[in-house]
Amino acid sequence: MRSWQGDGIFYGADYNPEQWPEQTWAEDVELMRRAGVNLVSVGIFSWALLEPAPGRFEFGWLDRALDLLHDGGVRVDLATATASPPPWLARAHPETLPRRADGAILWPGGRQAYCPSSPIFRERSLALVEAVAGRYAEHPAVVMWHVSNELGCHNVHCYCDVSAEAFRRWLRERHGDLDGLNDAWGTAFWSQRYGDWAEINPPRTAPTFANPTQQLDFLRFSSDEQRAQLRAEREVLGRLVRQPVTTNFMIGTGIKYLDYHSWASDVDVVANDHYLTAADPQAHVGLALSADHTRGVAGGDPWLLMEHSTSAVNWQPRNVAKTPGQLRRNSLAHVARGADGVLFFQWRASRAGAEKFHSALVPHAGPETKVFREVCQLGADLKALAEVRGSRVDAEVAILFDFEAWWGIELDSHPSVDVHYIDRLAAMYGALWRAGVTADIVHPSTDLSGYRLVVAPTLYLVRDADADALRRYVEQGGTALVTYFSGIVDEHDHIRLGGYPGAFRELLGVRTEEFFPLREGERINLDDGSTVDVWTEWLHPAGAEVLASYADGPLPGVAALTRNQVGAGTAWYVGTRLDDAATDRLVARLVTESGVRPAAAAPTGVEVVRRRADDHSWLFVINHTDADARLAVTGTELLGGARCDGELVVSAGEVAVLREQPAAEAD
Ligand code: GLA
Repeated sequence: MRSWQGDGIFYGADYNPEQWPEQTWAEDVELMRRAGVNLVSVGIFSWALLEPAPGRFEFGWLDRALDLLHDGGVRVDLATATASPPPWLARAHPETLPRRADGAILWPGGRQAYCPSSPIFRERSLALVEAVAGRYAEHPAVVMWHVSNELGCHNVHCYCDVSAEAFRRWLRERHGDLDGLNDAWGTAFWSQRYGDWAEINPPRTAPTFANPTQQLDFLRFSSDEQRAQLRAEREVLGRLVRQPVTTNFMIGTGIKYLDYHSWASDVDVVANDHYLTAADPQAHVGLALSADHTRGVAGGDPWLLMEHSTSAVNWQPRNVAKTPGQLRRNSLAHVARGADGVLFFQWRASRAGAEKFHSALVPHAGPETKVFREVCQLGADLKALAEVRGSRVDAEVAILFDFEAWWGIELDSHPSVDVHYIDRLAAMYGALWRAGVTADIVHPSTDLSGYRLVVAPTLYLVRDADADALRRYVEQGGTALVTYFSGIVDEHDHIRLGGYPGAFRELLGVRTEEFFPLREGERINLDDGSTVDVWTEWLHPAGAEVLASYADGPLPGVAALTRNQVGAGTAWYVGTRLDDAATDRLVARLVTESGVRPAAAAPTGVEVVRRRADDHSWLFVINHTDADARLAVTGTELLGGARCDGELVVSAGEVAVLREQPAAEAD
């Protein structure tokens, strides 16, 4: 790993000078200095300009832009520029274009129109990386390299013949021989047995449900193909440059098909892009979840927020603008949760192109605007927070997350279309957020021994080793909560026999003999007053204590919530979809019983998170409510906006960061 941190918090944006006449560039740098911007990502979509014809490179404009930035003291995260191929590539090699499952070609004219398995794309893109890296390896402005951009955002699944060949190669690696593949895919079913590798295709549009393991393996393959591009570009950079390398992940914006837990080791800097779902009034909770997941992917280390928006985006149905103060709350929430850099898409709002209505640091209306004023304020805030750089976030709770479990649980022909992977994750996370408790979102193979509480929401697919690790964690004194439709299948999507929830049956001390999903909109009651919907199951306690049962619905009297003593620890199971109030009550009870402590006692809606270094800790307090908040905490407030004399008063919508000295007590 190459070290990537600067002397403070990075602050900046994607900067696309090629969209503007050069006269504008000087004003850009002047405004960047005014705003405190110290890092910009350059060249992300510049391939067509840098290589206007095959093998003919034109670097003059980029030379001038980088020199200007350097003279202005702005550092550069330089793109390999491979994110979107120029039109000449598809014209010369139409076979590089991706195909959908139904065979339709995805044409150039947008972006990312390439087949991820195309050897021609790979060769041309790496030639570009060689050229760019060769030219700018020693440029004094460049402090970081940015591979491609949001790999797999639009072209993650390609079903063309080139991809089919690559898929077969990948399957040989994974399964060894056809017997292995036939076993793993369960091809005795529906006359699917393969006698020759050439018979196997990606799961193209079929008359009915495609083989689920074929689908799952194709999703794994597709994530690996995108990762292979990252690794190939990184290999070139590894030879030619000495700066750290990153690429921007898309964790927590609904992007499902890239297994970032497996990609993290391929970058020096875990970087993420996050955009609020404007329609969601609680979008700041989703933001926190995304940040905590990014930190989990980064193994708890600081990470970089590569993109978010100063205000509205352009790609949601209704692109709601941020209210005054929201930009600051959003940005500092990422910092609270481990970001050591806050960047945006993009520096200056475009005049032309598909993203011209996307907000930026410099809006169409110019710098005399709410957005640019808030941008300058944020620059000052981040400067004041320089000392938190490198510190880590306190978390006593782990939530297990596995992209493969997400893929598996949402395949077709399952008991209910109302079971969604993110649903219970978000519900459990939301309850913790409201309780002021920070959680790490981690892969099930993570060492759990340091956590007081581990939550496994709808962990449908689980490997034996990971299920065993959870059992050992509980035996040794941990507290675990597992929710319905967990532990159901192994990594081949084969059912674990003997009763549900398969892999977790013994841990939880229950045995479910049949699922009873509810009808659309049907809501029933538990005997403790909670209501539930979507899911019920015919569960038999097998050692576990019953805490609540169904009062009505298809299974009156059957257990819905159980607790099992295992070794020195406790394993809880919730076999149904609790309403939000019941989820809050359950999580509050688990927090208390497992000894988890909130970062600070704060009113609901006031976000509290602690970062920690050897001698100091910092308490971030973000007031999302419209009332002033008072917290009984002491320390030195760093942003200069909040009073702290015996108690901290954080006004409605404001943010405070306290340096606590000595550091607040940890374990
Ligand atoms: C992504 C991309 C950017 C831009 C933004 C718009 O994050 O990486 O190039 O398209 O979305 O929100």
